[in-house]
Amino acid sequence: MTTTHESPSAADSGASASESFKASLERRGSAASSSERVATVVTGILKGIHDAIRANDVTYPEFQAAKAWLISVGEGGEWPLFMDVFVEHVVEEVAAQNQKGSKGTIEGPYYLPDQIRLPSTATLTMREDEAGTPLVFQGQVRDIAGDPLAGAEVDIWHADNAGYYSGFAAHVPTGNLRGVIVTDDRGRFEITTVQPAPYQIPHDGPTGALIEAAGWHPWRPAHLHLMIRAEGHRTITTQLYFAGGEYLESDIADATKPELILDPTPEDDGTARVRYDFELEPA
Ligand code: DHB
Ligand code: FE
Repeated sequence: MTTTHESPSAADSGASASESFKASLERRGSAASSSERVATVVTGILKGIHDAIRANDVTYPEFQAAKAWLISVGEGGEWPLFMDVFVEHVVEEVAAQNQKGSKGTIEGPYYLPDQIRLPSTATLTMREDEAGTPLVFQGQVRDIAGDPLAGAEVDIWHADNAGYYSGFAAHVPTGNLRGVIVTDDRGRFEITTVQPAPYQIPHDGPTGALIEAAGWHPWRPAHLHLMIRAEGHRTITTQLYFAGGEYLESDIADATKPELILDPTPEDDGTARVRYDFELEPA
């Protein structure tokens, strides 16, 4: 299979997203479920499938095609991609019901832990000729009472100007456009990076085949991913988008929220500058 820079390879990013997810299981902890809970949730899921089959008179050939497709998603290592695009936003919505503080949204499949720790004012690791509009993103991390959180971690990761994530695309250097910025004594941070481009779900694998077969588009709006951590506080996993950007209204992963849209100001030197603050509730 050939991989061009314009077209992310599902074979690359799918399989490495699966490996990365498996490696993260210990960090995420396990879900101890009673048999009652398993039966209730699985019955609900199966009922959804049964209802769709009845409502649409699904045929035997369609049933067999579905089984073949499910096998190919597994073989291509694309379950993390598929689940994070089509399912995670509802899990996040349920989790967020009783949460206070800044809005979160889906994590997606491309988080990597243990990235370089950087001081409160820092430039993300990037290539010398990294493409894209320079972006200065500054803000403050506070608790929900409004008190600054010194030493909080702003863990940021995002795609490059062509839509690739380091660690999931062989041609992007390790750690590119990833870092953990530690806030200063007044909870402040200032991160220099480049503005990411819209992201296209890899379309040469089974998830892409489904998107094409359904006549959908494979795009997510340009976004920064963030995890904000401070001792004694609930970690926020979120994304920030860009006002006026493409696909804000039609994100394939349905993960945008009005509170998560940045509107950077262009400066004379071509840099875009924006401020966004985070508020964390007690853990
Ligand atoms: C996927 C990629 C993302 O960058 C993201 O934020 C969510 C989902 C995906 O390919 O599944
Ligand atoms: Fe993403």
